[in-house]
Amino acid sequence: MTEHDFIPPIYDANIDQGRITWESPSNIALVKYWGKKKDQIPENPSLSFTLNMCKTITTLSFIKKNDVDNAFSFDIYLDGALKEDFKPKIQTFFERIELYLPFLKLYHFKIETKNTFPHSSGIASSASGMSALALCLMSVEKQLLDADVIAGAVEESFDQEYFNQKASFLARLGSGSACRSIEGDLIVWGETKSIEGSTDLFGVKFPYPVHEDFKEYQDTILLVDKGEKQVSSTVGHNLMHNHPYAQNRFEQAHQNLESLKSILKTGDLEAFNALVESEALTLHAMMMTSMPYFILMKPNTLEIINRIWNFRQETGLNISFTLDAGANVHVLYPKRESQEILQFIKDELVGYCQNGHYICDQIGFGANQIQF
Ligand code: DP6
Repeated sequence: MTEHDFIPPIYDANIDQGRITWESPSNIALVKYWGKKKDQIPENPSLSFTLNMCKTITTLSFIKKNDVDNAFSFDIYLDGALKEDFKPKIQTFFERIELYLPFLKLYHFKIETKNTFPHSSGIASSASGMSALALCLMSVEKQLLDADVIAGAVEESFDQEYFNQKASFLARLGSGSACRSIEGDLIVWGETKSIEGSTDLFGVKFPYPVHEDFKEYQDTILLVDKGEKQVSSTVGHNLMHNHPYAQNRFEQAHQNLESLKSILKTGDLEAFNALVESEALTLHAMMMTSMPYFILMKPNTLEIINRIWNFRQETGLNISFTLDAGANVHVLYPKRESQEILQFIKDELVGYCQNGHYICDQIGFGANQIQF
């Protein structure tokens, strides 16, 4: 497939107004996306667990403009409050996707969004937020095409597979990691030879057998620092240009995906723990060795990591961690070990979280349309 496959036929836009709601989850990468080319094309493949509890719920209302002009018209609300500061990001998103959604300038949109996790938690909301909006926009496109089919203006609408692919494709243009939030439970984004069907254009479901242990894997997110990110991910990705270790890092991501394929099949948790922790530390190593350089881990991040390592050594339990581009720690473990591990988290790790805050999540199955 190419980008051109996502340019729709010309439709009549025979619908005056409507309203649609989607909820879409966040995801946590095991193999990290860090570095991108033009048009949100990743420098390396990544793989993520789709989460179950951390979601964005977005309602998109649309009404046809009386006079069509050459501008996008939209308002965005978070928890009922108008958010002028969100507008530039949505404006950029609309500019990037206009070619693929030619109805965008015909309507005024009201975007009402809320998260099931606190906005100030330091959990990135761009993946769930952009994927929820992309899904809403795809539903508008589907309604327009369906109306045209009924009117006899076009022959056919599209199927669910195309809907998901295009939703992921659009979400990617909003935020790279968002393309991995449309479906569950394990998603690959970025072309790599060991994963059949993988593409730079959108996320695909991991197409190989997965051991039972990974079907309900647990992710307890320890909120070490709830402040705004010091470095936006876009700036961080750009620092991979001319980065002295970039090429080796990109190559390593391909190798790690290949290794994960057999780890996920056999359920080799020791190898899994080593691979995801190495990926997390490599991500942060890239940030520490870029120019300018930066450190996003906090003292409590390191304290938690050391305690996880000690506990694993002492008990032999399969606890490991991964990190986003921030100080928070995602503690990963199989469900069958959750009793002891959760007790350890409460006894020894929660004290290192800001205000003792943490979120218990587990692998989930992707986005849902909400009907009223
Ligand atoms: C560290 O998807 O937030 O979370 O494409 O610029 O919006 P943009 O970047 P974004 O980057 C996420 C990077 C990461 C790793 C990952 O999720 O793979």
